[in-house]
Amino acid sequence: MADEQELAETQRQHWQNTYTAHPGMYGEQPSAPALHAADAFRAAGAREVLELGAGHGRDALHFARQGFSVLATDFSPTGLDQLRDAAATLEVSGQVITAVHDVRTPLPLPDASVDAVFAHMLLCMALSTQEIHALVDEVRRVLRPGGTFVYTVRHTGDAHYGAGVSHGDDIYEHGGFAVHFFPRELVDSLAENWTLTEVHPFEEGELPRRLWRITQRVPA
Ligand SMILES: C[S@@+](CC[C@H](N)C(=O)[O-])C[C@H]1O[C@@H](n2cnc3c(N)ncnc32)[C@H](O)[C@@H]1O
Repeated sequence: MADEQELAETQRQHWQNTYTAHPGMYGEQPSAPALHAADAFRAAGAREVLELGAGHGRDALHFARQGFSVLATDFSPTGLDQLRDAAATLEVSGQVITAVHDVRTPLPLPDASVDAVFAHMLLCMALSTQEIHALVDEVRRVLRPGGTFVYTVRHTGDAHYGAGVSHGDDIYEHGGFAVHFFPRELVDSLAENWTLTEVHPFEEGELPRRLWRITQRVPA
């Protein structure tokens, strides 16, 4: 437990330092999963989107430009500062609210209060299996019936799985970033009592990172 706390605090500081040293590091273009999610959310009639681990906001800004109301959260205030500056430049500040929030704690929203939740490469951060289950329970709590959850994770087929410093529980630290590489069983267990719509493999970046994009819905 003390080790988990220490790792989480080290990681928060590492992300703060990274966003400070490399403002807007993921670029201005939305990720491929965000393009897909915006279409899926619109098709489901969603209006409000909660994004977890939004960073400097390449995807939150896409959702805002597409007309969604967005609550963008991250445990890095520096990333969220960059997101708000970009939102002002793009004149979508009215569509985006930010909140500093660590997903190891309960989500700052009432039950059944959002239509859609998006999290690109957040669940595969330095979170234990138990913390990931607790987070997905929280996502389910805040989603309305019929609500959609789209998340992406690096998986055990990724080239960095098993490389670097092991923290146990399939978490490996490489270049200062700790990643929880997902086995398929974890995806399936997180979808219990949801409707699992897809587990889509894709790649991102130069390594490339190997990820799954998962879509699951709260039964209406
Ligand atoms: C791999 S980055 C992805 C950022 C963003 N989703 C994107 O794709 O542009 C992971 C993000 O999760 C955030 N993060 C990591 N652990 C977190 C935690 N426990 N609570 C909230 N945010 C966290 C980091 O600060 C970082 O912004």
